[in-house]
Amino acid sequence: MLWLKNAHVIDPAQGISGIMDVAVQGGRVLTLGQGIAAAGLPDGGEAEVTDCAGKYLFPGLVDAHVHLREPGQEEKEDISSGSRAAVRGGVTSLICMANTSPVIDSQALVAFVAERGRRAALARIYPMAAVTKGMRGEELTEMAELAASGAKGFSDDGRGIQNGEIMRLALEYAKLTGCPVVSHCEDEFLAGKGVMRRGPASAAHGLTGVPAAAESVMAARDVLLAGETGGRLHLAHVSAKGTLAALRAGKAAGWDVTAEVNPHHLILTDEDVPLTNSDFKVNPPLPSAEDRDALLAALADGAIDMLASDHAPHTWEEKACPFEEAPFGMAALETALAALWTYLVRPGKLTAERLIDAYARRPAERFALAAGTLKPGAPADMVLFDPDWEETVTAESMASKSANTPFLGRKLRGYPVKTWVGGHLIFERRA
Ligand code: DOR
Repeated sequence: MLWLKNAHVIDPAQGISGIMDVAVQGGRVLTLGQGIAAAGLPDGGEAEVTDCAGKYLFPGLVDAHVHLREPGQEEKEDISSGSRAAVRGGVTSLICMANTSPVIDSQALVAFVAERGRRAALARIYPMAAVTKGMRGEELTEMAELAASGAKGFSDDGRGIQNGEIMRLALEYAKLTGCPVVSHCEDEFLAGKGVMRRGPASAAHGLTGVPAAAESVMAARDVLLAGETGGRLHLAHVSAKGTLAALRAGKAAGWDVTAEVNPHHLILTDEDVPLTNSDFKVNPPLPSAEDRDALLAALADGAIDMLASDHAPHTWEEKACPFEEAPFGMAALETALAALWTYLVRPGKLTAERLIDAYARRPAERFALAAGTLKPGAPADMVLFDPDWEETVTAESMASKSANTPFLGRKLRGYPVKTWVGGHLIFERRA
């Protein structure tokens, strides 16, 4: 038995935030409470005891938006390296996107990803399946079969579904599976060849900009389609105020709509984009300060349901080229929590409780994963978090194969120091 004493436990699913002990047995949470007495434990307290004073203990994070690149792009990441990166970042369950090579659009590929995840034996890895065959946006995948094989949602993430009728049908058919359709909202005509958010910063750099409407227009379409079909819609990586208007309207109407936001869209803006560093190039692009503030407010008030990293690794070679030519995406699994803590929780812009709610309880609930809480009987997927642990982000320290993060070289404060999955200690941070 594992007995963790005097931790500040945060578990929004139980409304808990306070100093407590947690006992774990057989891979599950046995009990938790203030000053658990050894006599109350089944084996009289025969346990491995860890004093957690000064640290937080919370459910392992659940990341609903991760690119693990396997099969086909293993030079960027694979399921094993991505799993190591996940647990270093405190993520114990994740859903990985279908824009691999080949695209995850068949039962065999869904089963392959799940099996590779099991073999990596670190975080719990769940596949997202594509909405359309080959992500070509033309013909729906066999959704019922894919869900039966273990897909937890459907997404053509990486590309917007341009054809509204295809999206309408996807929302209709996905209802049979209970899985959400995750929309990468991007009107390709509006986005054009843009490489960063359109505005004064893109003009100053002389770079082609993507208007915020490229996202919001499609978000509004998809929210309306969710209303019309009664389908289950989840908006990936929202980055613009107009998208929030559509989201809030859909929620107010009682439609089954949720949304996520990525840490980088809450912390950085288009003003931070250096012309010479394509690690800041991401899709959707870094927002204006006004949009960033609106995103933070929406996360705090619950209009945005959850946090997700959108971990999108690319090799150094791919990124080491002019901004216009580099691929979109940021590696984020290992820095998401530390960056959120450093830039939002420490300065009082986001509570620790809402962070855990949005990055554990809510995604687990939305994607029906057995995770996101420390309720007695739940799998003991846990993070011991030291709010004062400082570390500079370096390529060498990362488990991910790629280090394309805008936080490279920055010192972040607040890191996971131990991560357990199913009661097994699978990561321990050392100085
Ligand atoms: O920046 C991004 N990179 N946004 C996406 O939607 C896809 C992702 C990728 O796969 O690299």
